[in-house]
Amino acid sequence: MTGDALAGRLRDIVGSQHVLTDADLKAGYETDWTGRFQGKARLVVRPSRTNEVAAVLVACAEAGVPVVPQGGNTGLVGGSVPSGGEVVLSVRRLDEIGEVDAVAGQVTAGAGVTLATLQAHARAARLDFGVDIPARDSATIGGMVATNAGGIHVMRFGHMRQQVAGIEAVLADGSIVSRLSGLQKDNSGYDLAGLLAGSEGTLAVITKVRLRLVPQRPHRVVALLALGDTAAAQDTLTALRPGLPSLEAAEIFYREGVELVCEHSGLLPPFAEPYPCYLLLECAGRMDPATELIEALETSPPGPLSASREGGTPRRPADASPILDTAVATDRPGRERLWAYRELHTSAINAAGIPHKLDVSLPPGELAAFERDVRALVAGAAPGARVILFGHLGDGNLHVNILGVPPEDETVDDLVLRMVAERGGSISAEHGIGRAKLRWLSLTRSEADIAAMRAIKQAVDPSGILNPGVLLNTAMDCGR
Ligand code: MLT
Ligand code: ZN
Repeated sequence: MTGDALAGRLRDIVGSQHVLTDADLKAGYETDWTGRFQGKARLVVRPSRTNEVAAVLVACAEAGVPVVPQGGNTGLVGGSVPSGGEVVLSVRRLDEIGEVDAVAGQVTAGAGVTLATLQAHARAARLDFGVDIPARDSATIGGMVATNAGGIHVMRFGHMRQQVAGIEAVLADGSIVSRLSGLQKDNSGYDLAGLLAGSEGTLAVITKVRLRLVPQRPHRVVALLALGDTAAAQDTLTALRPGLPSLEAAEIFYREGVELVCEHSGLLPPFAEPYPCYLLLECAGRMDPATELIEALETSPPGPLSASREGGTPRRPADASPILDTAVATDRPGRERLWAYRELHTSAINAAGIPHKLDVSLPPGELAAFERDVRALVAGAAPGARVILFGHLGDGNLHVNILGVPPEDETVDDLVLRMVAERGGSISAEHGIGRAKLRWLSLTRSEADIAAMRAIKQAVDPSGILNPGVLLNTAMDCGR
């Protein structure tokens, strides 16, 4: 089938205004959010119903043209943009959202529903959604399930896979699998929904998701703590956590990130003087958790000193609090201001250049040393590069952002990911493998593990048309 014949067939399926071939119209679908990953799409197709997705996949399979599924295009590992010549299948028009089922505490959302829309919908029914990420206004549910997105509430509610009660998806041959009943108990065979969560568009195109909702927690308090280093932040969190069942976020960031955010946004610094490290805590509940948090901050023991030792000498007296300064907010504007120092990191970094983004997780006992050593590692390999670290301390997840290294130079990526693997961590905590980390997958997945994943891919997508070059290198398996 010629390119034009395929475009014509797709126009018959979705309507001509939803097949984009014009370079200007395609452009927004061809570059990822960071600007690091890009490629020309053959065309962009925008179906609005599951049976249209199925017909599009059949047409593309018959034409032998690979398909890149795309949601809000907020991914950070190049997993939803073309590398050259693919059809981009945008699911954004699959944006129907069902009525909240208050009895089950569930809702069915189309893959193109944004997280912010889902949150508003759930809140209108006096419930809420357990996953939240700073890209909430653009990120779509389908993409978030496909990447098993994590975000700022994982420590309380888990990541995206744990919110999925059922799924509808279209396989590469156009067949539709649908498990949307949301049954609490249904042990009949493989957990396809669980498998598709985190499959990064390589096994199927997710079209609808049945999602678990969580109780609303209308009362909130946010505290920003100034600390001396990562070890002090970890000690503080370890000491506070048992007494704070309402804790739902524990985010870490550092002086250079706050300075960049303030420079970019015009925000004033959070405290009169800068500190090396910041820990943002949020507690939420049906009852006001402010007293609980404030009392915990005042009375909790300073925590173990072992991680705070340098050269064997504790840097603070055993009975001294590691907290150097504190800002607390209960009202919405105050809370949002404190969150801004954390949430504006991504856009501030992007405004400063095209970053190398390495989203990694470490065992708790390795985190503080890794934070220190990764800075030295990058400084040695790429003098002059800027390292901006931030992340989800409660999940042992650090986002290592490196500015000032050309996008195609992967020397620092290689060094950092190897250091992560040597210390028992994961090369992808929550962003996925995408195109960005494909060559390093074997650092933290065994040969047998990768072979099993390839076998699954081969079974459901034997001609390899779904997102080739993402997550697994299947070109050989599919004779490409
Ligand atoms: C975040 O936690 O803000 C996201 O993972 C985005 C990022 O890493 O830049
Ligand atoms: Zn994150």
